[in-house]
Amino acid sequence: MSTVLLERRGAYAVITLNRPDKLNALNGELLQTLADVLTDVGADTTIHAVVVTGAGQKAFAAGADIGELHQQDAFGGRLFAERGQRVFNMIERLGKPVIAAVNGFALGGGCELAMACHMRFASEQAQFGQPEINLGIIPGYGGTQRLPRLVGQAKALELILAGDRINAQEALQIGLVNRLYPHAEVLAQTEAFAASLAAKAPLALYACLEATQAASDTSELEGQYIEASVFGRTCGTSDFKEGTAAFLEKRQPVFSGR
Ligand code: COA
Repeated sequence: MSTVLLERRGAYAVITLNRPDKLNALNGELLQTLADVLTDVGADTTIHAVVVTGAGQKAFAAGADIGELHQQDAFGGRLFAERGQRVFNMIERLGKPVIAAVNGFALGGGCELAMACHMRFASEQAQFGQPEINLGIIPGYGGTQRLPRLVGQAKALELILAGDRINAQEALQIGLVNRLYPHAEVLAQTEAFAASLAAKAPLALYACLEATQAASDTSELEGQYIEASVFGRTCGTSDFKEGTAAFLEKRQPVFSGR
């Protein structure tokens, strides 16, 4: 059985991390398979939104595989971190909205994977944390960068320095999570949301992600420059003409992705 499952469900896809007996810990094989799956999904023009979740009832992902981690030295550790960063950057830059359905533990690399997704919907039973400090290391899959951007420097440092787990309610309060659902509903609700996004104009979805990413990557003025040029690009699409015509004609738009 593959360590990552891909199911196409109409216009969206569900990616499932599939090592439930190891709480979906992210080993090298899983990361490579995830990269391959993301390459396929990115190139598939029939998929317009993606859900990422974990197999089993306990975990989204309990972090990098500590057995593999234990083997690293200073140089290997750097490569180990860069590999994870590369795969998670593929999620952030997929060009389609990616929503994490966090169905349990999201610790270490699991929390970093959830943060690389564009949104996080969580089970009320989920737990989040960056416990790397307790292993004598720091978060290495983008956590030191994405966590402060999401929750602010002080809260990020509290989580990274103390290494404690927080529950789903606290994760919601600090802005780490978008929405909470009862455990049994989180995947279905996340899929329903993904389906609703997948029905929108795909080029506009892509443009939203591209322009919003600039808010993390650039100064505000440079970001506004990018926003205006991306906005202009969307005005050149058939879907823009269709969306505005449909509004004026009081009907539902039919988007073609062009
Ligand atoms: N890497 C490798 N294996 C892991 C793992 C990880 N990050 N997290 C869990 N596992 C494995 C356990 O070793 C165990 O395997 P085994 O059954 O062969 O012994 C299995 O998953 C179940 O985990 P277990 O610890 O028995 O479950 P639990 O419910 O008692 O505890 C956690 C759950 C999440 C609190 C605990 O597994 C944990 O602390 N995991 C590590 C979290 C972490 O530090 N992540 C950051 C890594 S950089």
